[in-house]
Amino acid sequence: MKILGIETSCDETAASVVEDGRLLLSNVVASSVDLHVAYGGVVPEIAARSHLESIMPVIEKALNDALVPSHQSLITSGKKQKDWRLTTGDWRLQFDPWDQIDAIAVTQGPGLPGSLLIGVMAARTLAITKQKPLYAIDHVHAHVYAIFLTEVSSSLSTNYDLPAAAPKFPILALIVSGGHTQLVLFKDHFKYHVLGQTTDDAVGEAFDKVAKLLGLPYPGGPSIAKAAKHGNPRAIKLPRAKMQNKYDFSFSGLKTAVLRASQALVGKDYTLPSHQLADLLSETQKNDIAASFQRTALETLIAPVKLALEEFRPATVVVAGGVSANLELRRLLSKTLDTEVIYTDIKLCTDNAAMIAALGFYKAKYNRPKADPYSLEIFPDLAM
Ligand code: KG4
Ligand code: ZN
Repeated sequence: MKILGIETSCDETAASVVEDGRLLLSNVVASSVDLHVAYGGVVPEIAARSHLESIMPVIEKALNDALVPSHQSLITSGKKQKDWRLTTGDWRLQFDPWDQIDAIAVTQGPGLPGSLLIGVMAARTLAITKQKPLYAIDHVHAHVYAIFLTEVSSSLSTNYDLPAAAPKFPILALIVSGGHTQLVLFKDHFKYHVLGQTTDDAVGEAFDKVAKLLGLPYPGGPSIAKAAKHGNPRAIKLPRAKMQNKYDFSFSGLKTAVLRASQALVGKDYTLPSHQLADLLSETQKNDIAASFQRTALETLIAPVKLALEEFRPATVVVAGGVSANLELRRLLSKTLDTEVIYTDIKLCTDNAAMIAALGFYKAKYNRPKADPYSLEIFPDLAM
């Protein structure tokens, strides 16, 4: 079963074709991140306009990347052994890539309303005109399904470092992105319990805000990780929030503590505006702040995972979402936990449509309700 996934929840316009929830046939991601760098964060109107421009070319590329090889074999099996391009002219005149697509899966939420609308309207239109079943997908839930991708089509030129096998249930999943931080226990597909979540900022958001404070480029996660490599993670003592629910997270106090420590480092008090700090801090100070913040943020993430592992003894621990690209997080987790943790390729940690297609496959397989292409609405505040 081949599913076309469509994702437009934030600033990435993405489409992908995945077979049987595990084989990556194509993965196209067009990011408008360069347009947002000047503003130090995603500007919703710019993101929506950029989705509008990219959505159809991105979908077309995902279909073509995925389906050309099989057409090629169709043609060669028809005894035209020469270059199929020369013998057939434009193959699209003879073969419709849509013939091989069994269903469409699209991100319904959570995300920016204007961005979500573009993907959902494109998916609705295509579901109607191409007569394909449509599945509405929860973006945060889908991050975990990136880890179910275990194979890549030989025709894809990009390398992917994927897990050898799909994770086994029960799965303890730490989902860490720019908008969400959750610890979820999955008993099976669609049977899960949210053990804890952030009570304020998401961890990725905290990375982005601290990077902005230090004058490091957006997105902040990779910038902080890079600066932290040159800093001392014990240079500045920062607090870890104490939570009522031991599986919850909090990052807003940490962010304020970073601001106060930075003001003190340059000999100023709390009245110094945060946007003036970057010019006053030395390179060494910035690196030390980045390293100390990263260490504290990652320890905040890891402590509940350790407790949940001891309490629930899951078969597998997975970490998904943009922040799972952080190599220091991976190193600390393997040092702290007495079990193997499964991740996916860095390219599939951040937003993509392959994860949407993978979850779409399981929705189809487990007979989950289909979406009505005539009425499917976006759901910007959708929560697992
Ligand atoms: O999953 P994602 O692409 O989008 C959301 O669903 O939010 O996650 C984006 C977040 C951003 O906050 C970005 O700064 C963070 O992931 N991120 C990282 C790293 N790479 C991306 N955070 C820490 N370390 C990284 N290497
Ligand atoms: Zn995401």
